[in-house]
Amino acid sequence: MNKIVPVIAVDGPSGVGKGTLCQALANHFSWHLLDSGAIYRVLALSALRHQIALDDENQLAQLALNLPLTFDTSEAEVKVLLDGLDVSRDIRTEETGGAASQVASLNQVRRALLQRQRDFRQAPGLVADGRDMGTVVFTDAPVKIFLDASAHSRAERRMKQLQEKQNHAKFAEILQEITARDERDRNRTVAPLKPAIDALIIDTTSLSIQDVFNQSITYISEKLAL
Ligand code: DC
Repeated sequence: MNKIVPVIAVDGPSGVGKGTLCQALANHFSWHLLDSGAIYRVLALSALRHQIALDDENQLAQLALNLPLTFDTSEAEVKVLLDGLDVSRDIRTEETGGAASQVASLNQVRRALLQRQRDFRQAPGLVADGRDMGTVVFTDAPVKIFLDASAHSRAERRMKQLQEKQNHAKFAEILQEITARDERDRNRTVAPLKPAIDALIIDTTSLSIQDVFNQSITYISEKLAL
């Protein structure tokens, strides 16, 4: 039954606009949304709080298997709950993002989180946001999109987002953090960030959010014969 539920798999590096695109697509089709990065972020936050070393693969995999994580979708803005407490803001810090990228490089951790992600595949459809949605988690997804953009333009966008939240980060630090995270995500041996061979690649460097949305909708309509 699950097999026939369609999935739009959207992958790409940090700050490329996947979150915005996936939210817009999920709203447009009234489909479910999987923010897989949030799962890795909650795991990292939990590890930091329990003082588990970020390279302790066994303990982290155990933590991942039993992670008391839920998504509260009752309001327009989805809340991420750890142990029933709202951690939506805590998981968005640069520290947690960096830690998420570290725990995400561990094979046993990724295996432990696989089924939890696949369980999001519910009718009428799923928009899945991540790094390995098209290459590992939903290899049979009928639509795969890979967003890319230069590290510089992604750092600029991230800087703007932070400024809107009154957070005064330094551009050089953001660029360095994005570059380090990319390198780790692209060069890890397990589920490295890369486009699936059957993915549409969109370079968003000089595109508006609307342009990316329009291109995606055109492609999705063709693939799903809508
Ligand atoms: O998308 P994000 O920035 O919230 O993801 C945080 C980290 O989690 C990112 O550096 C890499 C990792 N991640 C992953 O390895 N696989 C995914 N499917 C999603 C995220």
